[in-house]
Order: sequence, then structure tokens, then C-alpha cells
Amino acid sequence: MQRMRKLRVSPAMRAMVRENHLRVEELIYPVFVTEGQDICHPVDSMPDICQYSPDRLSEELDRVIAAKVPAVLLFGIPAHKDEMGSGAYDENGIVQKAIRQMKSDKTYRDLIVIADVCLCEYTSHGHCGLVQDGIILNDETLPLLAKTAVSYAKAGADMVAPSDMMDGRIGSIREALDAEGFLHIPIMAYSAKFASAFYGPFRDAAHSAPGFGDRKTYQMDPANGREAMREIEADLFEGADIIIAKPAMAYMDVIREASVKYNIPIAAYNVSGEYSMVKAAAANGWIDEKKIVMEILTGLKRAGANIIITYHALDAAKWICEGE
Ligand code: PBG
Repeated sequence: MQRMRKLRVSPAMRAMVRENHLRVEELIYPVFVTEGQDICHPVDSMPDICQYSPDRLSEELDRVIAAKVPAVLLFGIPAHKDEMGSGAYDENGIVQKAIRQMKSDKTYRDLIVIADVCLCEYTSHGHCGLVQDGIILNDETLPLLAKTAVSYAKAGADMVAPSDMMDGRIGSIREALDAEGFLHIPIMAYSAKFASAFYGPFRDAAHSAPGFGDRKTYQMDPANGREAMREIEADLFEGADIIIAKPAMAYMDVIREASVKYNIPIAAYNVSGEYSMVKAAAANGWIDEKKIVMEILTGLKRAGANIIITYHALDAAKWICEGE
């Protein structure tokens, strides 16, 4: 008999042989900024998550700083949407404004500001690219994504994160950033992004549900793991610095395989639906929120994630410091 229990006898013994650890330094917290004033609007489907107007953004950022979470991922909710998604690349767009505001305030200057690059929050039809005759155009969308990334970099973003799933976008964005002198700005690519029902609550939060159809012609089929490796390879080839697998929990095999195959930091995006399921069950007293969240996030580390993007980040940071 192998007596495996010998190393499980006490907290200290278990801690000594623990293989994976969560670190606050590898958490990224998504933040929603909305056009308007004096707004802290709770997202119904995401308990404890709000949309903030720029004048109240500091309330949320102060919590991020206090939790020592090093990075935020910004999503914008514009006042107006149009067919071209022009709010995404408007110099005075909501995300651009928020970034400039953060970078001009020494309290927040050292936070890593990552800007999500996509058109879906800014288009009247809610798709991630331009639309013609019901088709989501690929190549015509690329210059707009590149323009968006450049305008975020100009505003002071530390990193851009394209989530649109158009083919060739990493190359287009890299080229545009380099041409404008932003050689040092990394790209965190949503490479293995699946057409998932787990994004439901986010679309409430970001007002970005597609007006017709779905995203299946550009986001990946949830059944395909091998194809995810091709998406990652393409993005690496085009210049991605960090790759994202998204959603996280139902796609841990993708995280695992990518971490074994590719020598690049891997971020797991623990998405809105995963968050809301935990919050709903916890609110009903059916699960222990802290234990469940820590188990999920540790599981993502074990699977091979180096970075975790999660709406639980502020709580998790606190719980990491508290210990078991
Ligand atoms: C924008 C985008 C989405 C998410 C991140 N960026 C929504 C989507 O693709 O429909 C989802 C994040 C989440 O569910 O937490 N394209």
C-alpha cells in the first residue's frame, strides 16, 4: 500500500507539498466604464459588478489598489452606437477618456491598464466587426480594430487585448502599433475564444448582445480543441505576447494543451457566466463562495494558466492574503 495520507496530516504538511499557488500579482480585474455622470449602475446579472462613469471610477479603482490587484481590463459603454462602431476609435471615446484620467492621476498611474479591443460595444448591430448584408466582414474590420488599438495606446494604455476574433487582427494591430511608435505595447490576444453562452451576463453589462444572429461565424465552435491550437499558433505568428483561453472552466483542456505546447504566458478568462453562477449559488446558501472561488482559480493554475482574468479578483486577492 502507498500511504499517500502521510503528507496530508496537517495544514503545514499540506502547504509544504502544495504544487500550485494563486498569486495576487497574476490577477486581472475587468472594469466597465460608461459615458455619463454620477453613475455607479449595478449589473443585474452580475452581483457586485457595476458600470462606472469616469467621475466615479475612482471608487472602483481604490478597491483595486487596496486589494493590490495589479491590472484592470477596461470595457466601454458609449453614449451612442453606429454601424461603424466609431466610438471604439474616437479619440474622446469613453475608454480613451478613462485611460487618460487614470494615467494622469498618480494614485492609479502604476496600475496596468489593459484595453479590450472590439467593436461589439460600439456597433448598433452589436457584432464585433462591420456588417454587410448580414455578413460580418473580416478584412474591412481589421483597419478599424488597428485604429482602436492605436487610439488606446495613444491615450496611455499599457496593453491591448483584441477580443473580436477576426482573422489576421493581431498582425494588423501589431503593424499599426509599431508604425505609430508603440513598439513596447504588448498584445494580449483572445486567441482561443469560443462562441459561448457563458458570455450572457457580460452582454448585459456591456450592452453588446448581437442585434441579429450570433457570433458563431467568428468565435470558435465549443467542440473544437485542436482548432484552438491553430488559432493560438496564428496569433503567435502574428505577434501576440500573451494568449487568452476563454471561457475558462469548460475549456481547461485548451489551457492545459496550450501551456504544454507554447512557451508564452497564458491567461484564463473566468467569464461573466462562470462568475454569475457562483454568485447565484452562493447567494442561495448552496455553496461556500470563498472555497468555491479559490478552488476554481487554483484549478485554472493547475491546468496551466499563468494569468487569470476574473470578476472575483478583488475578493480572491483578499482571500489569498487571508490564507486557508
Ligand atoms: C467582446 C467581449 C466579450 C467578452 C469579452 N470581450 C463578449 C462577447 O464576445 O460576446 C465576454 C466576457 C465575459 O463574458 O465575461 N467581444
